[in-house]
Amino acid sequence: MNIPVAQRLQRIPPYPFREIAEIKAKMLAEGNEPIDFGIGDPDMPTPGFVIEALAEAAKDPATHPYDESGFGIPEFKQAVSEFMAKRYGAQVSPDGEVQGTIGCKEALAHIIWGYIDPSDVVLVPDPAYSVYKVQTTWCGGAAFPMPLRAENGFLPDFDAVPLPVRKAAKLMFLNYPNNPTGAVADLDFFTRAVDFARENEIIIVHDCAYSEVRYDGYATHSILEVEGAKDVAIEMHSFSKTFNMTGWRVAWACGGADFVAALSKTKSNIDSGTFMAVQHAGIAALANYDSFIGELNAEYQRRRDALVNGLNSLGWNIQPPKATFYVWVPIPANYATAADFARDLLAECGVLVIPGAVYGSYGEGFVRLSLTIKGDDKLAQINEAIERIRTRLTLKF
Ligand SMILES: Cc1ncc(COP(=O)(O)O)c(C=O)c1O
Repeated sequence: MNIPVAQRLQRIPPYPFREIAEIKAKMLAEGNEPIDFGIGDPDMPTPGFVIEALAEAAKDPATHPYDESGFGIPEFKQAVSEFMAKRYGAQVSPDGEVQGTIGCKEALAHIIWGYIDPSDVVLVPDPAYSVYKVQTTWCGGAAFPMPLRAENGFLPDFDAVPLPVRKAAKLMFLNYPNNPTGAVADLDFFTRAVDFARENEIIIVHDCAYSEVRYDGYATHSILEVEGAKDVAIEMHSFSKTFNMTGWRVAWACGGADFVAALSKTKSNIDSGTFMAVQHAGIAALANYDSFIGELNAEYQRRRDALVNGLNSLGWNIQPPKATFYVWVPIPANYATAADFARDLLAECGVLVIPGAVYGSYGEGFVRLSLTIKGDDKLAQINEAIERIRTRLTLKF
């Protein structure tokens, strides 16, 4: 049989990390294990208090059926509401302003399915996590890029969005702390974003997946800290990076009730929610946030400092990121493209990084290094990578 896949599937490229995973698998098969700064998937285990809560909850048959609420069990939504209030001073009602989701990725995709008809316009940062643009395209919508430039601190310039595009746009994606650039946004930026959305009748979808990976005591923000933000915004949070729970598929959306309702209606026609025992594990995770998060971030901070100091000793001038586990590195002047540099790093040094253009055309000229390094002795691997680059590549700045 030769039955073509749907045109909407033909229109989109393969999921970018699949290709990288394939290159890595090939290297491993040849006995060459790279020092892997590639995919941003925590290498540390899920904390014991989460695993124990899952095990306990899974023993209770009451957790085994469908979560018929479709929104997340009441205790989960209550825990989220309390976390948002305590951590950010943001008020979201567990009744109607919180939706449990099967990961942030799912929620980001489904909010687009809930709002975007063919030819609708979505404002999408460039570079960015691929889901915003790909799902917009999949729905037949048009993704309008908002460049994230170094000179603007990798924040979009709302004034640069042409008037007709502003007026046509239905959704705008923001993501701070940012993947891939590691940039953060302050409350002044979020206030301007809310004003822009209100003036132009645009819903902001703020992807907060990296909100808790932060350094030097830096306090990241929720857009819901801005007065009146719930009129224009929905925010996606996740347990994945905060608690080393990427495989668990548990997250939440919160914000304006209409936006949460649109997401809920979309989801209820597609999935049946997160396993209730996993939701109980999520509740335990949030309850232990204060005692856990410092330890997690101290480990990433050691790696960040080793990597940034090492790269700077080779001639770069990189500011350490204040949040996320990503270091966004401009390519040396003697390389034409990020792909060329990434290829040399892999072939000559056995160092795997992601070329920035994978995240959009404005990512060209940069490579992303993730601090989630697999294998033993992370600092030794970082130092080894730096030494290989020092001795095997010629770099001009
Ligand atoms: C910006 C961004 N948003 C969302 C996600 C997905 O998070 P989750 O595991 O909760 O689906 C990722 C994963 O890498 C990401 O980089």
